[in-house]
Amino acid sequence: MATLITGIGELTTNDAELGKPADVALVLDGGVVAWVGPAVRAPAADERVDVEGRAVLPGWVDSHTHLVFAGDRTAEFEARMAGKPYTAGGIAVTVGATRAASDEELTRNLSRHVDEAAAQGTTCLETKTGYGLTVADEARSARIAAAVADEVTFLGAHLVPPGADAESYVDLVCGEMLDAVAGHVRWADVFCETGAFDEAQSARVLKAAAGRGLGLRVHGNQLGEGAGVRLAVEHGAASVDHCTYLSDEDVAALAASDTVATLLPACDLSTRQSLAPARRLLDAGATVALASNANPGSSYTTSMAFCVATAVLQMRMTIDEAVWAATAGGARALRRADVGVLRVGARADVHVLDAPSVTHLAYRPGVPLTYGVWRRGERIR
Ligand code: NIG
Repeated sequence: MATLITGIGELTTNDAELGKPADVALVLDGGVVAWVGPAVRAPAADERVDVEGRAVLPGWVDSHTHLVFAGDRTAEFEARMAGKPYTAGGIAVTVGATRAASDEELTRNLSRHVDEAAAQGTTCLETKTGYGLTVADEARSARIAAAVADEVTFLGAHLVPPGADAESYVDLVCGEMLDAVAGHVRWADVFCETGAFDEAQSARVLKAAAGRGLGLRVHGNQLGEGAGVRLAVEHGAASVDHCTYLSDEDVAALAASDTVATLLPACDLSTRQSLAPARRLLDAGATVALASNANPGSSYTTSMAFCVATAVLQMRMTIDEAVWAATAGGARALRRADVGVLRVGARADVHVLDAPSVTHLAYRPGVPLTYGVWRRGERIR
C-alpha cells in the first residue's frame, strides 16, 4: 500500500542533494521511499496522511545497545549516585541473571525494549551479546538477538567471567565461541578497558573476528584514555564507541580514518563521567554518531531524543549535527546506506515530531515529541 505524506513543516533528508527541501511531500511504497518532491506535484497514493506542519526526519538509527539481558541493577545505580564509581565489574551481575533466564524471558525483555525504542522513533537498532560469556549462552544470545534486532554484534569479549583465566578465555572467544555465534552476527566487538581486556587481548579478538569475515567495532576510551581508539583505527573497525577520554592523537587518528566515533551521552551521565568531546572530534573532521547504549548497568534508556538533547545542550553539537549523528551517523557506524536517510530507494523509516522543527528536540528536552513512526513503510505509531 502506498502512503503519501503531506503537510510537512520541515523535512530533514540527510541527502546531500535534497538537503532540507520546503513544500515537499513523500511517498512510501513497498517498504521504501518511492518519491520525494514538491507537494503540488505529489502523485496519487492509496492513503494520504497530512502531518499538519510537523517536522519529518529519518527514524533514529541506534547503533549501540546491549538488550539481550535479564535482571536489574537499580542497587548499583543507587550506589553510584551516592558516590561509588562505575566499573566493568557490574557486568557480572547481569551475566548471572541472563544465564538463569529462559529463552522466552530473554526474547520478551529484548522485544519490550525494542518496542519501547520504536515508540520513540527508533527504526533501526543494533544489539549485542555479552551477558552470556559461555559458548552456549553467547550462541543463545546471538540467536535471540538475530530474531529481533536489525544488526547483531558478538561481544563475548565483554568481561573475563569471574574465576576464569583471561588468556584461556580469550582463546575460547577467538575459537569455539566465535564459531558458535558466527551464523547469527554481522559484527564483533571487544571491551578494551582496564578491568576488561587489555590491548594485546583486544587485538587478538579483533584479528580472529576479522578472519571469520565479521565487521569490527570496539568499546574504547570509556573510563580513561587507552588503546581502544588506536586499535579500532588500526584494524579498520566501523566504529569505536564511548570515546569519552581522548588524546589529541586519538582525535587525529579518528579524523584521518573511516572509523566512526560513536558517543553515548546517556552513559556518560549515568556513570558520572565527563561528556565525550564531541566538539573536538567534529572540529577535527571526525565522523560522529550518537547512540543510546541502552543496557541495565551504565545507561538504562532507549531514548535517542534524550541523547540528541544532551548533545546539543551540554556537548555543544548543533541541532543539525546531533540529528545527523543519531540518524545518518548511526547508519555510517553500521556501514548502511539504506537507513538514516530519506531519499528514493531508502528504507521507508520515517519519524514525525509533534513539533514544527527538529530544534524542538533540544528546545523542549524531556518532552515526548514523537507523533508518528513508519518502519519499512508500515505505520507503527
Ligand atoms: O557499553 N562498557 C561496556 N559495556 C556496557 C556496560 C554494560 C554494563 O555495565 O552492563 C557499556 O557501557
